[in-house]
Amino acid sequence: MKSKGNLRLILGVTLLMVLLPLTLVSCAGEQGPAGPAGATGAQGAAGAAPSEAQLLNLVTQVVQGPKASAADIAHGARLYDKWSKEAGIADPTGNQALWALQTTNTRTGADTFRCKECHGWDYKGKGGAYSKGSHYTGFVGVYDAGMTKSKAQLLTILKGSTDYRHDFSKVLDAKAQADLAAFLSEGLINDVQYIDYATKKPIAADAVRGKTRYDSTCAACHGADGKQINFGSATAPEYLGTVAADNPWETLHKIRFGQPGTAAMPSATSLGWSLQDALDVLAHAQTLPQK
Ligand code: HEC
Ligand code: HEC
Repeated sequence: MKSKGNLRLILGVTLLMVLLPLTLVSCAGEQGPAGPAGATGAQGAAGAAPSEAQLLNLVTQVVQGPKASAADIAHGARLYDKWSKEAGIADPTGNQALWALQTTNTRTGADTFRCKECHGWDYKGKGGAYSKGSHYTGFVGVYDAGMTKSKAQLLTILKGSTDYRHDFSKVLDAKAQADLAAFLSEGLINDVQYIDYATKKPIAADAVRGKTRYDSTCAACHGADGKQINFGSATAPEYLGTVAADNPWETLHKIRFGQPGTAAMPSATSLGWSLQDALDVLAHAQTLPQK
């Protein structure tokens, strides 16, 4: 958070120095009275100097582009989860080309194309929950890049600027790429602050408050006990309680942004919930039966 703030500040101040005179001149041009050239600038500026907030807004827009909508960020997040399903296109076949750079994660096929499989549900890659276990690849997370790079820079990475094998522009349309960049830039959270990695429990969450929200928003589909939808199979059932206990990072991501290709399932961000609301629901989901 800090480093991005600093970067923005530096960029902001630099741009302000460039833009302030320009803005004043252009305001003067539009609003200053017609008069002898030279006098216009001073008179116009005195009459219509932009407010500090307007200037800051201008600088942010130049650095990052306008803020994305909650819906676009959530769409980007579901693409991050499983882009083929969210975009409604056939699962890619074979393994993603970068997959050959590692041997520790032995999954094959469609899974190897999912952003989350290489970069983690907690966006930390090898530095997070996937630092060990069967999902370990040794690949970097996206959190640092999301915090420090501009949306435009993130977009070029998705087009293969750093490695040609990381080019997703052939399979995802421009809107999908833009929403992914918006999610990386504006949708990431630092899970370390919200989930205890040792116990897998959300930090400072209220399961009782979560139950109220769960019962009114989730129970219609998942059942009051979370067992109405089975994500696994008849022989190896997997319910909301199972996923929530086993993988709080995945569950939090899906609570916040929804399920790919499942438009009916609401996302916390689209409901206007706070992050705390989502954490509370996660805490309640962890109390539900796991089998
Ligand atoms: C098969 C594994 C794999 C998949 C799938 C994958 N990436 Fe990556 N990604 C990498 C590797 C390896 C790097 C580092 C090398 C590079 O920059 O190309 C990387 C780098 C990045 C970076 C820059 C990180 C940094 O700190 O510079 C971002 C952002 C990123 N990926 C986002 C995504 C998104 C979004 C998706 C899904 C559309 C995705 N990646 C899918 C392996 C993958
Ligand atoms: C309109 C019905 C509906 C509502 C409401 C709903 N869900 Fe879902 N949810 C689904 C469907 C359908 C799936 C996908 C099942 C599948 O892909 O097999 C799903 C999947 C999930 C998953 C992913 C499980 C996995 O392993 O893939 C989680 C987590 C989840 N829901 C949590 C919630 C929570 C928490 C709420 C309330 C905030 C909620 N859902 C509300 C229908 C709903």
